[in-house]
Amino acid sequence: MIVDAQGRRFRNLRVSLTAACNYACGYCVPNGKRLIAAEDELTGDQMFRAVELLIAAAGVEKIRITGGEPLISPKFDTFLTGVMGLALNDVSLTTNGQFLEAKADVIVASGIRRINVSLDTLNPLSFRHIARSGDLDTVLRGIEAVQAAGLRVKINMVPMRGENLDQLLPMLQFCLERDIELRYIELMNMGHLKHGAQYQQQFVGRDEILECIGQTYEFSRTHAAYDSTSVRYEIPGHGVFGIIANESEPFCSACTRLRLSSNGYLYGCLSSTHRHFIGDILDLPDHLALARLQGVLVNALADKQSLQFRGEVTVMKFIGG
Ligand code: 5AD
Repeated sequence: MIVDAQGRRFRNLRVSLTAACNYACGYCVPNGKRLIAAEDELTGDQMFRAVELLIAAAGVEKIRITGGEPLISPKFDTFLTGVMGLALNDVSLTTNGQFLEAKADVIVASGIRRINVSLDTLNPLSFRHIARSGDLDTVLRGIEAVQAAGLRVKINMVPMRGENLDQLLPMLQFCLERDIELRYIELMNMGHLKHGAQYQQQFVGRDEILECIGQTYEFSRTHAAYDSTSVRYEIPGHGVFGIIANESEPFCSACTRLRLSSNGYLYGCLSSTHRHFIGDILDLPDHLALARLQGVLVNALADKQSLQFRGEVTVMKFIGG
């Protein structure tokens, strides 16, 4: 097993099934342009082979399927079912929820236990403004459908000044009432946000979020797992929420994530432009593929930041957060 000087190794693999997305959120893409799939994306079989090899070579224990938007990929059904058949501790899915209702049968039948839905507002107008596409009610029906089938749901919300700050409490109330864990994600300084004033204008930090919640609820900080990205808080008698405080409380030193993009690159760090192509390894016999992967993984692990997320032009949109 490859371990670095800070004791980090790759445990969690995030697989971006496609770079394409049916939304065009302002923090992900500039100019309202929707993301389209790269022509050179791996096939579903190749991605599955990559996952199997990474389990063997890196000791991956957890997998998250992400995008782009994974539910719009033709690879989704087969890939999900395949991954659910592997020996893993945990499989999860991140989706914008627009096709959750339509895909609920496949998702439930796969046996997956939990999903994360990205939802920044409960106001239909600001929803359209942020996502520049989609329909709020469809997302809410999707969430209901998978919850009714017994899946655990978390919601990710990116608070942004001038966009959805008025939604901090309504979103929390909505989630507490439905036994959904809400996680506020501090806006990350990535991609096109690296250039220009949007990031500084829109960023809302942990303390401001907590202050707002504190006006309505009493809460206390509670335990979170070692390599969790989220700081968790408990509101006694009501439930929990989390904050993914990349800026206010960076978690790089305990990061165990490895990312595979839909066009076959491994990323050891979301905040590094370094990437490592493995598309040419996948057809090799196991022993050769695993030997090549060992070298790649050493380099990918060395890409991790020691302490703090530096921000990078690297593209969240391709590697799914
Ligand atoms: N900062 C913070 N979160 C982001 N996401 C996408 N881009 C950014 C950004 N620049 C979020 C999405 C989704 C998760 C995968 O990452 O809203 O919830």
